[in-house]
Amino acid sequence: MRRRSAPTAFDPAAVRPWNARLTGLGYGGDYNPEQWDDDVRVEDLRLMREAGVNILSVAIFSWATLEPREGELDWSWLDRTMDRLHDAGIQVALATATASPPPWLTRRHPEILPRLADGTVLHQGGRQAYSVTHPVHRDYALRMTARMAERYGEHPALALWHVDNEIGCHVPRDYSDAAAAAFRTWLTERYTTVERLNEAWGTAFWSQRYGTFDDVLPPLAAPTFANPTQQLDFDRFSSDALLDYYRDLRDTLREITPHVPTTTNLMTTSACKGMDYFSWADDLDVVANDHYTIAADEDRHVELALAADLSRGVAGGEPWMLMEHSTSAVNWQPRNRPKLPGEMLRNSLQHVARGADAVMFFQWRQSRAGAEKFHSAMLPHAGEDTDVWRSTVELGETLQRLGEVRGSRVSSRAALVVDYPAWWASELDSHPTQELRYMDEVRSWHAALWEQGVTVDTVTPRADLDGYDLVVVPTLYLVDDAGAANIAAAAERGATVAVTFFSGIVDGCDQVRLGGYPGAFRDLLGVRTEEFYTLQEGETLSVVGKAVDGEARADLWSEKTHVADGTEVVAAYDDGPLAGWPAVTRRDVGDGTAWYVGTRLDRAGLGALASRLAQSSGTTPRVVAPAGVEVTRRVADDGTAWLFAINHTAHDAVLDDVTGAELLTGTTTPGVLEVPAGAVRVVRLAA
Ligand code: GAL
Repeated sequence: MRRRSAPTAFDPAAVRPWNARLTGLGYGGDYNPEQWDDDVRVEDLRLMREAGVNILSVAIFSWATLEPREGELDWSWLDRTMDRLHDAGIQVALATATASPPPWLTRRHPEILPRLADGTVLHQGGRQAYSVTHPVHRDYALRMTARMAERYGEHPALALWHVDNEIGCHVPRDYSDAAAAAFRTWLTERYTTVERLNEAWGTAFWSQRYGTFDDVLPPLAAPTFANPTQQLDFDRFSSDALLDYYRDLRDTLREITPHVPTTTNLMTTSACKGMDYFSWADDLDVVANDHYTIAADEDRHVELALAADLSRGVAGGEPWMLMEHSTSAVNWQPRNRPKLPGEMLRNSLQHVARGADAVMFFQWRQSRAGAEKFHSAMLPHAGEDTDVWRSTVELGETLQRLGEVRGSRVSSRAALVVDYPAWWASELDSHPTQELRYMDEVRSWHAALWEQGVTVDTVTPRADLDGYDLVVVPTLYLVDDAGAANIAAAAERGATVAVTFFSGIVDGCDQVRLGGYPGAFRDLLGVRTEEFYTLQEGETLSVVGKAVDGEARADLWSEKTHVADGTEVVAAYDDGPLAGWPAVTRRDVGDGTAWYVGTRLDRAGLGALASRLAQSSGTTPRVVAPAGVEVTRRVADDGTAWLFAINHTAHDAVLDDVTGAELLTGTTTPGVLEVPAGAVRVVRLAA
């Protein structure tokens, strides 16, 4: 593998900000001019100006156009595009053009194709048909990356590098021989000796003991459950391998253009399980995210808020870029519905309200050919006389009015602990139930707090929790000692900490913490569970007590839990085999409190509990908004604060105690803020 090393003199402080040459917020999308004739490209420039576009992602899928035959380069259209965009005052997030290898490459080197666990080869003809670990592919990708950097590194339109595209989107796990070899290398680095691997994987079980690393395989399709720690380590390895690919391309760019920032577009949605993005954060000069709402999901705006909070969490609270979303329908859901009137604007400003400093789309002009021709774009097939185009122009104007929020940070005093390895491990097979979905738990808690108007930061178990008065820990099945101690310390220091069922069960090797569940959190919570009672499909239990404001229903999970002295039972099961046993407990710990929620409460019960937790931690919002009106704040270093109010309902809303300058209507808000149905208001708050 042709690995380039990072320049020894690389100076992170010399990397210019991605938006150094932009005023205000970024606005634009993916631009694929290679799909169009030149007269269309000329028209693009006029329309981009009209829409207020100032940044575009270019050349993401351009490899085969730039190099139609091996070694034969045609830069003409890209040279012209870069020059024209610069003349039009538009900056470029220039891709490495590697996201889809050209057909000649996979024909000459079919060994670079990735494989599924059952051996199926994923062929060329779609996109992303490459194995990130294959040395031949790596070599070609690095060469293409270097060419892009050499050709455009000094171009005045270049704002930042966009490495590949959604790395791991279609092939998060590759089971090819190249991946197997890289997995063994990764394991050798992690465990040093095969005995340590045997210990970590518990290979005394089912005659799985390895005598040498050479015998180890990825978890290929097997007669029955593969070793869980092998599966978990393969997840870790795969995320690291994808990151390694990014790093290698990034280092090539850095070597040639050390001053240009680099990123790649992540997919921090509640559906993207493949990559541990928190572990990618340090390698990104700015976090960029792609997010698509699911049309069939009635609460899609709440899921959007979680995705945005995840992006901000990965960014460590710094502003981030929304690199892609859609103006209207997509093409890859079972039923692809257009967005409702005003929904695209609300979606966009939700991201800004939660820390985005750029709003971008897939894509600028809707394709005429190819698999994405029915995916919406900023400029639709039907042209300018369309609601989509009018909303594209309206959004451009709106973002210009919001330019002053750029660089500010979202304020939050509540943390939601999210961890990708815990996600992977919690959903392994051979568990008490196959129905548990980690992100459903994260999402329900996020939504319950969203409904209370509590803005949360998403953080990992080991994050600095000092600034948080409320720390919610949903289903953290796997946690290491340091993570568990960190969470316990937050309670000691005065925070309200809530931990939910199937947490603290195993260590980092997926080995059970003995002595009763929830192992790592037993002392903090003052509880000891002796057995899980999972529920059958459709089965529910009654839970009664003040924690749920009387009575709630619960499903999926219950536990036979004993409480220690000093632990208060604040809700108990009222029927079923565990009638009378604790369901929710509470305990004073140091200057704070620790709550345990041993079951999955229904929406009303969870709402009641979330409200109680918000109140007892003092994290209830300062401005009380009606249900469905989302309120957040961004705060600048100098203390200037902006309140975003997004009305997701069909009813006009009024918020009290909001005084300041409303930026979208250009009016002043004398204490009462009106937010019409479906509208957004952004107020620079009076000091
Ligand atoms: C993203 C991808 C884009 C486009 C988009 C469609 O996953 O990065 O290239 O395919 O989805 O929604």
